[in-house]
Formats: sequence, C-alpha cells, structure tokens
Amino acid sequence: MAAELRSPLLPPGPQRRRGLALAVAAAAPLLALLLAVVVFSRSLLTVSSPEPVDLTLVAGARVASSSPEIVELTLLAGAREKGAVCLDGSPPGYHLQRGFGSGAHSWLVYLQGGGWCNTTESCSERKMTEFGSSKLMEAVEFTGILSNRHQENPDFYDWNKVMVRYCDGASFSGDAEGVDRDGTKLYYRGLRIWEAILDELMGLGLAQANQALLVGCSAGGLATLIHCDNFRARFPHQVPVKCLSDAGFFLDIKDISGERFMRSVCHGVVHLQNVRKVLPKDCLTKTKDPTECFFAAELIKSINTPTFILNSEYDSWQIGNVLAPNGSYPGQSWSSCKADIRNCSSKQFNALHGFRKKLVQDLKVAEGKSDWGLFIDSCFSHCQTPFNISWHSPFSPRLGNKTISEAVGDWYFGRRHAVKQIDCKYPCNPTCSSSS
Ligand SMILES: *[C@@H]1O[C@H](CO)[C@@H](O)[C@H](O)[C@H]1NC(C)=O
Ligand SMILES: *[C@@H]1O[C@H](CO)[C@@H](O)[C@H](O)[C@H]1NC(C)=O
Ligand SMILES: *[C@@H]1O[C@H](CO)[C@@H](O)[C@H](O)[C@H]1NC(C)=O
Ligand SMILES: *[C@@H]1O[C@H](CO)[C@@H](O)[C@H](O)[C@H]1NC(C)=O
Ligand SMILES: *[C@@H]1O[C@H](CO)[C@@H](O)[C@H](O)[C@H]1NC(C)=O
Repeated sequence: MAAELRSPLLPPGPQRRRGLALAVAAAAPLLALLLAVVVFSRSLLTVSSPEPVDLTLVAGARVASSSPEIVELTLLAGAREKGAVCLDGSPPGYHLQRGFGSGAHSWLVYLQGGGWCNTTESCSERKMTEFGSSKLMEAVEFTGILSNRHQENPDFYDWNKVMVRYCDGASFSGDAEGVDRDGTKLYYRGLRIWEAILDELMGLGLAQANQALLVGCSAGGLATLIHCDNFRARFPHQVPVKCLSDAGFFLDIKDISGERFMRSVCHGVVHLQNVRKVLPKDCLTKTKDPTECFFAAELIKSINTPTFILNSEYDSWQIGNVLAPNGSYPGQSWSSCKADIRNCSSKQFNALHGFRKKLVQDLKVAEGKSDWGLFIDSCFSHCQTPFNISWHSPFSPRLGNKTISEAVGDWYFGRRHAVKQIDCKYPCNPTCSSSS
C-alpha cells in the first residue's frame, strides 16, 4: 500500500528520465496526448544518447542548445560521518546546474517529493528504491521551474538550480534509527540530510547568493513549509529569500467514510521517524499529538518568510488518497472519478467541493499575510512547477490571465501587488486542460 501511496506523488518531469509516464497516467486525454508526443520524442533521444551528458561540467556556460537538460547526480561528501544518510545508509544526493549571466548569483533549491513511509515495512520497501537509496538514483532532466530555457522559465532560467533528492521518507524532517525486519538498520535521517546538503551548497556558492528561492513539490512542498524559516536564516537579512510550496498543502480532513485516514498516515511518519524537532513550538505546546503540527494549516501559522502557496483546489493525489482513499468506499464506486474528474457524479462533486471549501478555509492564514502569494487553481492536478506544460506553456492553467510562472515571478520580484488568487469552483476555468 505504501509503495502505491508513493507513486502518485512523484513530480514526474525532472524526477527521472522515464518519469513522464506517471504524468500521463494521471492526466486526461488531451494532456495525455500532448505528453505522449513528448515521451515518444524523448525516448528517441534516449536511444540516440544513452549516456547522460554531464552539464555540470560546463557550469556557467549556456547549455540552451543541448536538449533535454540532463543533470548529473552529486553525492554528499562526508555523509556517513554526519549520519546524513538515506534509508539504506547510502549518501544522499543532489543535482546542481550552475547559473549564468545575471543569474550567476541567484539560487533556487528544489526539494523532490515522493510520498512518505510510515511503518518499518513500508520504509524497508522504500529502501530498495531510488526514494530510499542513492545506489538507485540516476541523472534527471530539468524542466519547468528548473529549465534553463528562457521561453519555458522566463524568470529563473539563468539561476543556479539544485534538485535535492528525497530518500528519507519523512519530508526531510526525521531524525531516528530503526531496525529492518532482516536485522539491518534503517536510517531515518531526513533532517540531517537537509542540514548537510544545505551546508555543502553554502560552500558551493549558495552562501554568496544575492537572492534565493526554496521550492518543493508534494512531500517536498511540505518540506518547503517545514524548513522555510531555517533556509531564510542562512542568509544575511538584506538578501531576498522566499519559499514556494507546490502541492504541499495536505489537508487534515476526514475521508468520505468519516475516518481520519491522512492523520493516521502522518501519525506513523511523525512517530516512527521522530519528526518532532522541526515542528512549530507554538503548535506543539497546544496539542497532545505532534502529528497535527505536520500539516500545512498549522505550519503556515508560524512561517515568517514570504511564501507562495501553489495548489489545486481539486488536488488529484489528495482526492484519491486523502478524500477517497481505497477502502473508504464500496467496490470501485470512486475509481472512475479518482482517475478523471469529468467522470465524477454529482454526489461525488459534493465531496470534492467540500474538500475545496476546507482548503480555502485553511488558506485564510496565508491570505492575511501581506507578502505571501497564492495560486489556487481549480484544475485536477498535483505538482505544477516541475513540468513545462503546467509551469509555463500555452496549456498552462491561468488565473487572472497569468500562467503559474508569471504569477510566481510577479510575486517574487514584486512586479504586482497581492498576487493571491483562488479560483472559482470546477468546471469554471477554461484554461484547465479538457481533463480538468
Ligand atoms: C487503489 O485501488 C486501485 C484499483 O483498485 C489501484 O489501482 C490503486 O493502486 C490503489 N491505490 C493505492 C494507494 O493502494
Ligand atoms: C520541455 O520543453 C523542452 C523544449 O521546449 C523539451 O526539449 C523538453 O523535452 C520538454 N520537457 C518535457 C518534460 O516536456
Ligand atoms: C501507514 O500508511 C498506510 C497507508 O499507506 C495506512 O494504511 C496505515 O494505516 C498507516 N499505518 C501507520 C501505523 O501509520
Ligand atoms: C470516464 O467515462 C467515460 C464515459 O463513460 C469512459 O469511457 C471512460 O473510460 C471513463 N474514464 C475513466 C478513467 O474511468
Ligand atoms: C492574456 O494574456 C495573453 C498573453 O499571455 C495576451 O495575449 C492576451 O491578450 C491576454 N488576454 C486578456 C483577456 O487579457
């Protein structure tokens, strides 16, 4: 179950070179068709060039001519001595693409997502994947907000960009150790991974950044909220530092059967991996169970750094795993709605609109913070920054006629006041692709 719970959380684009198949699975016909063309052309590229090109070797150079943008993996130095290791004890990794031109001293740090593991069993399984071991990690393609092409990523294309790989299963936040069923150790060291990788990046130029942005999607979007103020604190106060959480706003709601399913998943993560240390103190003092403080609604109350929340009102992963997880309904009654929002019945739409209502309610705190930003669209999606198509393209969802990339840029650079938009109810937005 946990392994399956994980897969929808992959931000498919830059996740791995074959990752787009997941996007196709989650997308509906029009989008799927568009993506299929891309997958097809990409697989041709893979055939003609099986070895990833190491773009980090040409750091500082314009690499716009090489396509796709494959960026090699760097393993953290001294990981074992610091105890900053993946679930299986291997060193964690990241992908660094150097900035150029006017972006040479600007830094974007992107935290990868990919679900969580909440039990010894699910963490042991994860340890055998690239989400628990760097032995299985490969080079990745940088697209969407990570792209170095002006046309796809107009505001951040020339920045230094880092994708930090996710291999701890607790949103870069745990600090504990466990024993696998076979007697070997399981390392729950997400927090140390965060600290050690950021320290290494500081030495590689991050410390001299003249502006910075912390981004993450899904479990990485949650990690972004958790570590935002800590990231900010690493820079002198005159350096502009902001955070962007994409699809990290997981709701602490009852599922359609009335169970707090998501709460129980997070309870497992928080307790097994000892996540307490990074949770907001104000929240911890007022509640008996720290799990509550692991949710975005609580986290955002204590964040002091300007933050942008990007999330779909009908987050496709949350509809299928938080609102209507398997087992919360009889038979296959929700399967078709979970796969394609256009197939939901009016009764199911009531539940979906209820989800939207709670999200909008929880976001009131963010609405009240003057330097924050919001892009809450009514499309049926999960993770919108790492794909060309949703981040900035003719098919990108728009609010106030702005693509996600334009809205984030307007907010980051202060080109517009109050970049805070919450979409109307589905199906009101014609810029959502036909599926959504
Ligand atoms: C839920 O069930 C569907 C079909 O029965 C299956 O395809 C899917 O992987 C399951 N999801 C999880 C998270 O177990
Ligand atoms: C993103 O766009 C570039 C060119 O515009 C293309 O080479 C690349 O394959 C695209 N990537 C994805 C995942 O669509
Ligand atoms: C762990 O998560 C699964 C879903 O992936 C859930 O069914 C289970 O109840 C959770 N168990 C614990 C102990 O948190
Ligand atoms: C949605 O409904 C259409 C028409 O009833 C059907 O052909 C299609 O397979 C359904 N899609 C999913 C994902 O169930
Ligand atoms: C929306 O933005 C596009 C450019 O991104 C522009 O061409 C178009 O005129 C705008 N439409 C409206 C209604 O403002």
